[in-house]
Amino acid sequence: MIITIDGPAGAGKSSVARALARRLHFTFLDTGAMYRAVTLAALRRGLPLEDTAALVELAGHVEIAFDAERVLLDGDDVTDAVRTYEISNLVRHAAGNPGVRAKLVELQRAAAANKDVVTEGRDQGTVAFPHAECKIFLTAGPEERARRRLLDLQSRGEKVTFEDVLAKQNSRDDSDRSRSVGPLIAAPDAIEVLTDGLSPEQVVDRLENLVRRRMHKVPNCED
Ligand code: DC
Repeated sequence: MIITIDGPAGAGKSSVARALARRLHFTFLDTGAMYRAVTLAALRRGLPLEDTAALVELAGHVEIAFDAERVLLDGDDVTDAVRTYEISNLVRHAAGNPGVRAKLVELQRAAAANKDVVTEGRDQGTVAFPHAECKIFLTAGPEERARRRLLDLQSRGEKVTFEDVLAKQNSRDDSDRSRSVGPLIAAPDAIEVLTDGLSPEQVVDRLENLVRRRMHKVPNCED
């Protein structure tokens, strides 16, 4: 069974998708980490991110793997290195590159083959897994999302302000929504879940309920 969770930055997708996968004993796929890993690989090699052909070539050669909850880039644990503010602000080059997207979607499908998976990103229900059994579009208001992002960055020692996080988030949302390939958009058959004012646990409860109904063959996973 494939469960897709798409939505904008800061909607709480990562923590919720990870917790849902744990509860269901499904594999968790963090596809944002893949775009981040390609970005980090380019920086480490001194490749200009604007060089679209070089970035596609790189995406085809680097090895991105997941070991439990760690992200490995060519065997090196980059779980924290891909989550920095710097990478967040540069990842649009990889995410907006159609050739990179094609390679990473291929990797995502291979990673999910013959498995029960909760996969999280922007295009999982629309492009990567259009036939997924259960599709969720997780979202929240921009200020709420920026507040969560700020707390997360500050907890990791980053010196950032709310205004800056909100401005960068708006710019990332715009570029995610407006790109021609794999834009951030809800699949027509996705269930939209608004997380404003809900604790992560309440969101996971809601999603688990939706998924279990789907597993028990209720016609769609809507409650
Ligand atoms: O979810 P995240 O913040 O780790 O995602 C990092 C970036 O990658 C973000 O700008 C959106 C992009 N992304 C994407 O385009 N498609 C995906 N499936 C996942 C992430």
